[in-house]
Amino acid sequence: MYFSLLPFLFAALPFASANPRVPTIPKNATLPKHFGILLYNGFTELDVYGPLGVLQGLYAQFLHPNLHLSIISKNIMPVSSVPGLRGDFGESVVVTSTFGSILAQNGTVPGKGPLEVLLVPGGAGSRNELEEEVTFIKAIYPKLKHIMSVCTGSTLLARSGILDGRKATTNKKAWAWATSTGPKVDWVHTARWVPDGNIWTSSGVSAGIDLTYAWVGNVYGEDVADYIAQAIEYKRWYNATDDPFAAVWNEPEP
Ligand SMILES: *[C@@H]1O[C@H](CO)[C@@H](O)[C@H](O)[C@H]1NC(C)=O
Ligand SMILES: *[C@@H]1O[C@H](CO)[C@@H](O)[C@H](O)[C@H]1NC(C)=O
Ligand SMILES: *[C@@H]1O[C@H](CO)[C@@H](O)[C@H](O)[C@H]1NC(C)=O
Repeated sequence: MYFSLLPFLFAALPFASANPRVPTIPKNATLPKHFGILLYNGFTELDVYGPLGVLQGLYAQFLHPNLHLSIISKNIMPVSSVPGLRGDFGESVVVTSTFGSILAQNGTVPGKGPLEVLLVPGGAGSRNELEEEVTFIKAIYPKLKHIMSVCTGSTLLARSGILDGRKATTNKKAWAWATSTGPKVDWVHTARWVPDGNIWTSSGVSAGIDLTYAWVGNVYGEDVADYIAQAIEYKRWYNATDDPFAAVWNEPEP
């Protein structure tokens, strides 16, 4: 009895263990090729590296030709993730382009072409005035195909005015302060992420990963987003309005 089952078991294995089919990225000249990350001192690491892990999957899994990344800041000094620049628990990131150099070249970076997608992280540093960062977002937004923010990164978008009259979300723990930066924004409290036209905002920190998968799914195809998630062994969050943290952080921060 026990042995007689074995042939059936082995016969079923090739089907059970088939690897996911590799989806093809559509050959579409309008698909974005040049991504930028806007950095300021005191950014939150996962806001940057979570989305970058997904985008790197786009590059590595599909060898998407001519995909470029720019690390953009107000000057060429390395940018530190240390919150409030107190202590040394953090790391510095090398900047590849400045706001001034990109704007002086009409929104392009030599060798990489026009900047098409900008990602703005949140973090303790977003509580600073960040006037140059906000001015850059306002100036570059009309030239972009898409802009994404993670966590309190949406406060920079709000301060630049590009979120006026738009739907957006932000970090739930920092909700009272974050939403005060954009009185004309239609803030959505219960949302893991919110797309509005070409502006995609996410809730706190790890929500940026789900935002990026949803964005990749929308632009490159859900099969592409799913394949990257399988490859990096991540369980995707598909429902943008399924937000358990909205109920957890339900009192204004002191
Ligand atoms: C600047 O870029 C815009 C697209 O963002 C383009 O339409 C325009 O022709 C460019 N201007 C110059 C002087 O290259
Ligand atoms: C190319 O991609 C863009 C953005 O995803 C999409 O809006 C457009 O319909 C696509 N065009 C073709 C011909 O597939
Ligand atoms: C998404 O999540 C919300 C909140 O849990 C739920 O009400 C809604 O039915 C879900 N939508 C889908 C399509 O599952």
